[in-house]
Order: sequence, then C-alpha cells, then structure tokens
Amino acid sequence: MSKNFENLNHLRERALKGGGDKRIKTQHDKGKLTARERLDLLLDKGSFHETGMFVEHQSTDFDLDRRRYPGDGVVTGYGSIDDRLVFVFAQDFTVLGGSLSESNAKKISKIMDHAMKVGAPIIGLNDSGGARIQEGVASLGGYADIFLQNTLASGVVPQLSLIMGPCAGGAVYSPAITDFTAMVKGTSYMFVTGPDVVKTVTHEDVSYEELGGANTHATKSGIAHFACENELEAINTIKNLLSFIPQNNLEDPPAVECTDPPDREEEELDSIIPGSPNKPYDMFNVINRIIDNQEFLEVHRDFAQNIIVGFARLNGKSIGIVANQPGHLAGVLDINSSVKGARFVRFCDAFNIPLLVFEDVPGFLPGTEQEWGGIIRHGAKLLYAFCEATVPKLTVITRKAYGGAYDVMNSKHIRGDINFAWPSAEIAVMGPKGAVEIIFKKEISEAQDRDETKGKLIQDYRDKFASPFIAAQRGYIDDVIEPRTTRFRLIQALEMLGTKVDHNPKKKHGNIPL
Ligand code: HXC
Repeated sequence: MSKNFENLNHLRERALKGGGDKRIKTQHDKGKLTARERLDLLLDKGSFHETGMFVEHQSTDFDLDRRRYPGDGVVTGYGSIDDRLVFVFAQDFTVLGGSLSESNAKKISKIMDHAMKVGAPIIGLNDSGGARIQEGVASLGGYADIFLQNTLASGVVPQLSLIMGPCAGGAVYSPAITDFTAMVKGTSYMFVTGPDVVKTVTHEDVSYEELGGANTHATKSGIAHFACENELEAINTIKNLLSFIPQNNLEDPPAVECTDPPDREEEELDSIIPGSPNKPYDMFNVINRIIDNQEFLEVHRDFAQNIIVGFARLNGKSIGIVANQPGHLAGVLDINSSVKGARFVRFCDAFNIPLLVFEDVPGFLPGTEQEWGGIIRHGAKLLYAFCEATVPKLTVITRKAYGGAYDVMNSKHIRGDINFAWPSAEIAVMGPKGAVEIIFKKEISEAQDRDETKGKLIQDYRDKFASPFIAAQRGYIDDVIEPRTTRFRLIQALEMLGTKVDHNPKKKHGNIPL
C-alpha cells in the first residue's frame, strides 16, 4: 500500500473519531449523541457524502497548532432524507467544543452555497461553544459569512436548525434567521448572554435551562418552533417537516397518495359550534376532522396558543393551516399570535404551500400591555403577510369574524381566493354586545329596564348582522356551506386553484412593519 493510501486511512480514522474516545464518552455521559451519530439518524442509510473531512484550522496562537483535528469540529456534506437531497452541517462538540473557526465556517458556507445552487434544504445541527476564542476576529468573520449566507438563502431553500447543545452569543443569529428551529429539552440552550453575565448586569439568578432551554424558547420567546423530548424526536420532527415542504422556492411541495376519501363528510361538524357565542370549543377538533388522516404537524405548539399554525394535507397535497383557537383566550389576536401567524404565512408563501385559514376571532386584545407593546405594528405583520401572499388562499369562517381581525384573517378583500362561511358565522364590525352598547347608549341608559332593553337590542343586532349572509350578499363570502361538507369543498377549491398565478408589483422588497 502506498504511503498516501496509508495516510488517507489514517486521516479518515482520526476524522471519524472527532475529539477522541474520552470526549465522545463525555458527550454520551451528558445524554448527547456525537455529530456523526446524529447524521446517521437523520439521513437515509448510506446516503451521506462528506465534504471537507480533511480541513484543518491554520491557527498557531495559544498552542492551537498542536491541536489540529481533521474536519476541525464540524461535519459537512450532503445526503438524502426519504430519497430527497439535503445538505447538512453538524457541529462536533468533541473537537474544541464544536467552536467555530475560520476554516470550519468556510466548510459550512461552502455547503450552503451548494445547497442554494442546486436548490435543496440546508439542515444545521448546532452544538457549539461559539466563536473559537483563540482565533479572535477570524472566527467572528466566519459567523458573519454564515449569517450572510443564511439571509441570501432565506426564501430560496428551506433552512432548518436543530439545537442539540449550547448555542450562545452571536451564534444564535444563524438559527434565528433559519425557517424552523427544533430544540432538545434538558441538553440544549440558546441565549445572547449566559447566566453569569445576566447576574452581573441585571442581578437576576437564572439557570441555563430557565434562561434559554427548550421549554423557555418554546413557550415564552417563540424562538423554538419545536421543543423535543430527546435528540431522536427532534431529528424525526425535522424529517416529518421536510415531508410537507418543497426542495426550493421554484418547486411545489411533494404530494403523497391520499388514503382518506376526499368526499368524506363529518356529521359532527354540523353541531361542533356551541349554542352560546361565548362558549369556547377546540379548533383542533375542526382541523382534525377535515385534513387527511388527522395528520397535523403543529408548529409552535406551546407558544401563543390562541392561534394554531402547522402543516397538513388535503387529498395528499400540502397545506399550511392558520387557525384561531377559541379554546385559548377566546382566539383573540395579540402580539405573539400575530407574529407567530405572520412568520408562518410568509414561509408558506415563499415555498408555494397553499394557505388554509379557519377563522373564529373576536378581534384584537385590548389593554395597555398590548398597545404599549406595539400590537399595532405586530398585528400589521399578520395583515401584511396575508396581503402579500400569492399562493392559493382559502378561508373558512366557523363563527366570529369581528372587526379588523375579519380583514386580517385572509379576507376576500386581501386576495382570499375562496372564502367559505359556516351558517354559524357572525361577520360584523364588533360583537353584538359591544355594538349595542355604543350605538344604543342613550336608549339603554333611558330605558326603564335596562337589562331587558339591552338584551333585546343585542338579539336584534345579532339577528340582523351576526350572520354570514350580509357578507355573502356582497360577495365577500363565496359560499355558505354545511360544515360536514367542508373537507370536500376545500379539496375542490384547491384543485381549481392548482394553476393559480398571481403577482405582486415589481420591487426590491417590501417594508414589512418589523
Ligand atoms: C474554543 C472552546 C470554546 C470556544 C468550549 N471550548 N468553548 N474552545 N473556543 N468558544 C472547549 C473547551 O476549552 C473544552 O476544551 C471543550 O471545548 C469542552 O468545553 P467544556 O467547557 O469542558 O464543556 P462544558 O463544561 O460542557 O461547557 C460548555 C460551554 C463552555 C458552556 C459551552 O465551554 C463555555 O462556556 N464555552 C465558552 C462559551 C463562550 O463564551 N463562547 C464565546 C461566545 S461569544 P478541552 O480541550 O478541555 O476539551 C460568540 C461570539 C459569536 O460566540 C459572535 C458572532 C457574531
């Protein structure tokens, strides 16, 4: 065997060992897999092609020249998931804490560049101590190169982040720019500054988990779209997500064979809306009865639960669902739900995924907290996102469509293609009680029996305006349908819209109210 052959084998062996047996054991002891073990679980068996296995850093400061590892702490390459091409990078915590060096940043940038040229998703497995401290600004530059690539790739190819260890400091901004982030409970965290700095600056005592763990980001900040019990669940979630989305912005999402009859009727839907308009019900019971095989991949399950977003299929075709949830805060729109909905709508629109809205919304949440927090700006994000979306857009108003929220939730006026209402729909400027209190203020205050008068006026108002028919008379609603037929009607509408083409005016980019 020639010397070069021997050298090849030797280097390969070293690269496969990462930081060595001891550090691999430490990684396992923390309940974490290594970068290569993760890729084995993520990619189709035998599909991984590694690039840059022999890349090493070129630094000599702080004795780094004596600490060179082939691959330099990140495993990069391409492979397939369910036979579809993906590009991947997996930070290897066993090599210098997975820290980002100039050369390992170049590896990541290189595969991102490939992904954009060939039009395939990029999946990043993050587990890193951040910028390689010994390299100083060279490492910071490496991060900036990645941030730029993330931004350029945004809306071109799907970018998915798995956080499987530390992700701190400026490093958080790469996953933050990507489309979806899954975190692992107990072993991953993301923050701009860690608990020690927090203690010094704000005197708060906070643990890693509390400050930036999966639960925190899934419930409080919304940074994590998925909080998973373990690494395998996180990997499987990302695989499931990929099954709903296209390879790039020029393709349609993959269709699957549908085993659920398209014309299936659901009798229970006819009586799912409670008799009293103030009684909540669970919108998941509506969604699950309508989509294929009750298969709903919910995004942001634990964040802003007054709005539901996620992926499903109708007759085998991917759709993005945005639904008000009357079972949580009456389905009101507030800052978090607006932002959650807006980002999801924009993802679907960027990647040719039709939008389906289920609407039961009493309006925007009042109060100083919301007003001072900028509900005007944040609510405008959702409005803007629906307005600019050109994918097929369907709406089903199940009950309340009040006030500005009626306009926002994919109304006909902002290019909803097919807008259905159930007979239980109430489309009005505001709820009957609020309306009557304003327009009949004088009559009510002068009435002998105020409650009775008010009750009658409310009922009159409800009879007149709180119905779908006035909107339908004006053509704002395309049809009022029996709830039980909703699945088939939506499937037929989607079929009709299969060749829809719509454009926005040519511009550099819009100025979404950020
Ligand atoms: C170089 C690093 C490193 C880093 C960890 N290591 N982080 N080497 N640069 N940033 C090395 C450690 O020296 C150690 O090497 C090995 O990785 C494992 O680290 P441990 O500390 O033993 O692991 P653990 O106890 O699990 O702690 C993990 C950690 C801690 C919490 C991430 O390592 C840590 O605090 N690292 C520094 C984090 C940090 O401040 N990074 C800079 C953030 S600022 P040996 O040889 O002993 O195994 C930033 C700016 C980006 O990233 C800006 C972009 C715009």
